[in-house]
Amino acid sequence: MAETQRVATLTLDGKTYELPVLSPTVGPDVLDIRKLYGQADVFTFDPGFTSTAACESEITYIDGDKGELLYRGYPIEQLAEKSHYLEVCYLLLNGELPNEKQMNDFEYRITRHTMLHEQILMFFRGFRRDSHPMATMVGVVGAMSSFYHDSLDINDPWQREVAAMRMIAKLPTIAAMAYKYSIGQPMVYPRNDLDYASNFLHMCFSVPAEPYVVKPELAKAMDRIMMLHADHEQNASTSTVRLAGSSGANPFACIAAGIACLWGPAHGGANQACLEMLREIGSVDRIPEYIARAKDKNDPFRLMGFGHRVYKNFDPRAKVMKESADEVLDLLGIHDNPILQVAKELEKIALEDDYFVSKKLYPNVDFYSGIILEAMGFPTAMFTPIFALSRTVGWISQWKEMLGDPTGKIGRPRQLYTGLPARDYREVKDR
Ligand code: SDX
Repeated sequence: MAETQRVATLTLDGKTYELPVLSPTVGPDVLDIRKLYGQADVFTFDPGFTSTAACESEITYIDGDKGELLYRGYPIEQLAEKSHYLEVCYLLLNGELPNEKQMNDFEYRITRHTMLHEQILMFFRGFRRDSHPMATMVGVVGAMSSFYHDSLDINDPWQREVAAMRMIAKLPTIAAMAYKYSIGQPMVYPRNDLDYASNFLHMCFSVPAEPYVVKPELAKAMDRIMMLHADHEQNASTSTVRLAGSSGANPFACIAAGIACLWGPAHGGANQACLEMLREIGSVDRIPEYIARAKDKNDPFRLMGFGHRVYKNFDPRAKVMKESADEVLDLLGIHDNPILQVAKELEKIALEDDYFVSKKLYPNVDFYSGIILEAMGFPTAMFTPIFALSRTVGWISQWKEMLGDPTGKIGRPRQLYTGLPARDYREVKDR
């Protein structure tokens, strides 16, 4: 972070305070208010963190106006076209693209961490079959801290590294087993001869009764979806992981917290909510009714998959996802998919409507992802678990970066207190 000589001055009650201006590599300057409370005895107030930089980071950059997303400086469009998920994992974790040896070593280590401790499989059976897979993932990932005691010490770089490998490797296994458990099919163990995305599809869709061959094109589409979801700056779930990690909680507990936060329909749960919305709309002629509801201040309905705190232009991931949706549906011979027709018409109408244009609401990453995942055979309940397993590397990378900051301290925001001032206890006879 570049400390500039520039300062902002704040004048309050006749006193002037200087706030240093810090300049990023790209993006808005930040006002350093770390000493403000000590100097001026005032807090800043920003409940949704709309104007607050909570940390310094070198991992991911988003330009909301340009619709730009960079992983360690590389545009998401180039990575989606030329890279693959495990290479993106290496990039996010280490800051540079791997050479051939580094990639092979990384892939070897991840591949050999994909199995779960056999006793962990018992946790799944404690859940109802109709539990949402995200409930199972929160529970099982948190429970991993009761098994992998040799990778809990966050002060040991080697243990941090092993915990990172284990979670990137095991999350697909946990997600797939949660899916199999929910449909009453036998859980499928990972295979070391399959690549990461193929392994996940195999664990989800193969059954002991017959051979299952993963279509390479579907594996590539799955891999691309994982890349598009890998990291995204300081979104709600990443901020949750950072805050949990700032207390020194173990890595599995931190990632379980991130999964819990991602579950919400305003965040990672939007992909499931979006497909359910498209299904509810059902046909193009009902779109105006839902557009009107989304614009009605008295109606809590929102167009799921639309809008974003940062993107005030197209979410670049949505563009890639839209192209991928066409490819996958074509590959699977699914033509004239009514849900896709509704999605494309809804996007077209919304982007011409003053309400959406004026509020700069564009389709986000969740708008098309559900269409692809459903075409692949996933139920809507598996959409957010797939987002969670894909985002695990982003959470871990941000968690590692936070722990590597020597100036780091526990996150502890203050508040604007509007409750009652001190008062004396009143006996029940006096109430
Ligand atoms: C993800 O942060 C990330 O990076 C998240 C994510 C990631 O990769 O980690 O990108 C993944 O979570 C994508 C977003 C998925 N969520 C949805 O698709 C749910 C629908 N979208 C929204 O609820 C909303 O757009 C948010 C939550 C995404 C963003 O909300 P903000 O930034 O807090 O904006 P806001 O709620 O203040 O909305 C601004 C205005 C409001 O109108 P006014 O009060 O100003 O009149 O736009 C309106 C909102 O009512 N609005 C919408 C809308 N989204 C915002 N109106 C209708 N439909 C919508 N989808």
